[in-house]
Amino acid sequence: MHYNEEWSDFVSLDIEDKLAKFCLNNKLFDIIYAQQFDKNFLEEIFVLADKIRSIAKTYNGLIFLRSLLADKRAMLFFVQPSTRTFMSFLNACHILGLQTTEIRDSSTSSEIKGESSEDSIQTFSSYVDLIITRHFNEGFAEKSAWVLNTHAKRSVPVINGGSGKDQHPTQALLDIYTINRAFKNLGGIENKTYVMVGDLKRGRTVRSLTYLLALYQNINLIFVAPKNFTMQQDVLDFLDKNKIKYKTTDNFEESIKIADAIYMTRIQDEHDTENESTKYNLDNFCLKESHLSTLKKDAIIMHPFPRRNEIEVMVDKDKRALYWKQARNGMWIRAALILYLFNREHWIDNYI
Ligand code: NCD
Repeated sequence: MHYNEEWSDFVSLDIEDKLAKFCLNNKLFDIIYAQQFDKNFLEEIFVLADKIRSIAKTYNGLIFLRSLLADKRAMLFFVQPSTRTFMSFLNACHILGLQTTEIRDSSTSSEIKGESSEDSIQTFSSYVDLIITRHFNEGFAEKSAWVLNTHAKRSVPVINGGSGKDQHPTQALLDIYTINRAFKNLGGIENKTYVMVGDLKRGRTVRSLTYLLALYQNINLIFVAPKNFTMQQDVLDFLDKNKIKYKTTDNFEESIKIADAIYMTRIQDEHDTENESTKYNLDNFCLKESHLSTLKKDAIIMHPFPRRNEIEVMVDKDKRALYWKQARNGMWIRAALILYLFNREHWIDNYI
């Protein structure tokens, strides 16, 4: 057990105090918030992911990787729809030899019989060494970590694979890893303009990514959204506090010209309460082939996916479109994160 606060005391802690609870022996233990990652950690995990993907290029390399966590098991509890996050976590586990179990629909678990999700999580921890979750509820991953750290006999790590409208820390990891690779020979992540577009209010990926970009020097953020879908005040307060330059606007065309990276997102209409998404002409928040001539030559285009019409399919063949690479990068960076959580990141250097 790492701590013993009651849930009501725990949730009301300042974020800084809370983050310390998700660490053990000076290392990250549970992955709940993007704010848990600092620059040193990011540098370390980028290198580890690069090593894993280079070793994975050969048969012998893949067999070696599969031995690294062959004695471990993971549970994927994904009761909110997911394609890329689920697939990339599952394959990251398999690359490292972890055996996996999954629940993708709470109607197939005992929750349907009235079991609380706290009891379900404790049950999972009886069988596996790692729990990865995606859930509709904002605080679900955090509550799971709290339950396991305060109540359970076996406190296995929890990774948040997306919690409601709030956070998606491992998506932010793969996004920043993609940006780092793209700008490696172009001065790195620093000194660049990042344009985030779409439903910034309810999009958890942009919220989490903002925290990571804020770790880098002299970045400029432009949040482009329809009027009622602008970035939430808690994130803007964080940027103000950390003196990060940002602007909110609904003028996408103007922002395209000055962007070093454009991060498109879809409208999260599953969270609509009164069909609010239908009130806007979302066409103004789509990247079209005709925009490409105004985009800088070394700029990059990203999207966490799924996409609807935010990016015209014709854009895919442009070399600046990185969203398919982004999806694959997710598998490597998640493999690196999992290896780190099992304290076996140094084992990678045993490969000869
Ligand atoms: C995102 C998510 O689930 O938050 N997708 C993903 O994980 N790659 C974005 C979205 O659903 O729009």
